[in-house]
Amino acid sequence: MSTVLSADALKRAVAEAALAHVRDGEVLGVGTGSTANFFIDGLKPIRHKVKAAVASSEATKLRLEAIGIEVVSLNDVDHIGVYVDGADEINAALEMIKGGGGALTREKIVAALADTFVCIADDSKWVSQLGTFPLPIEVIPMARSMIARELVKLGGSPVYRNGFVTDNGNVILDTYGLDIRNPVELETHLNNLVGVVCNGLFARRPADVLLLGGSAGVRTITR
Ligand code: A5P
Repeated sequence: MSTVLSADALKRAVAEAALAHVRDGEVLGVGTGSTANFFIDGLKPIRHKVKAAVASSEATKLRLEAIGIEVVSLNDVDHIGVYVDGADEINAALEMIKGGGGALTREKIVAALADTFVCIADDSKWVSQLGTFPLPIEVIPMARSMIARELVKLGGSPVYRNGFVTDNGNVILDTYGLDIRNPVELETHLNNLVGVVCNGLFARRPADVLLLGGSAGVRTITR
């Protein structure tokens, strides 16, 4: 019989399942958000296994340091074994929308260097098509209106994330209504708009493993 678990209980369950993916003596990539925070909490008892970590945000860096894990710069690392992070939406191809917490650019950079991207998510994030969650797009502040007009031409409705500045000093346009039937194509197109730093589509580099939490337990889905 399955029990209905709270969203936090599901996040904790997938975070705990991800601990089995932490490799002894390797540099670990760590994501940002409430699910990633449960993962960081779970790392505490096994912190001796982690040689060092690369953090995808200042917030994650502080949390890792608070439990005694050394955080190193990506510039000092040529290889990350495993990157563990959450998602705002994920589909069957393990393509994702990320950036609800605003850390998309650093998340995408850390993910790019990782051998294995382990996504941890509760089943509310599982979708057949990406795009109900507004796509976060990080832009250089002076290009904000120009990019917003481009997004409208693409059929999107961009909303400026008021009062939010990314760790990189930029702003975010949360964009509703984009047609994301072809995530790789749209990710590439958005990357080519001058003034866009990064967009929250993780399709060119999807996750490799998804640990999906539901009332029946944690399911492992691989590409
Ligand atoms: C942070 O910028 C995001 O990409 C998060 O990974 C994503 O929003 C998932 O966050 P939650 O685990 O808080 O839902």
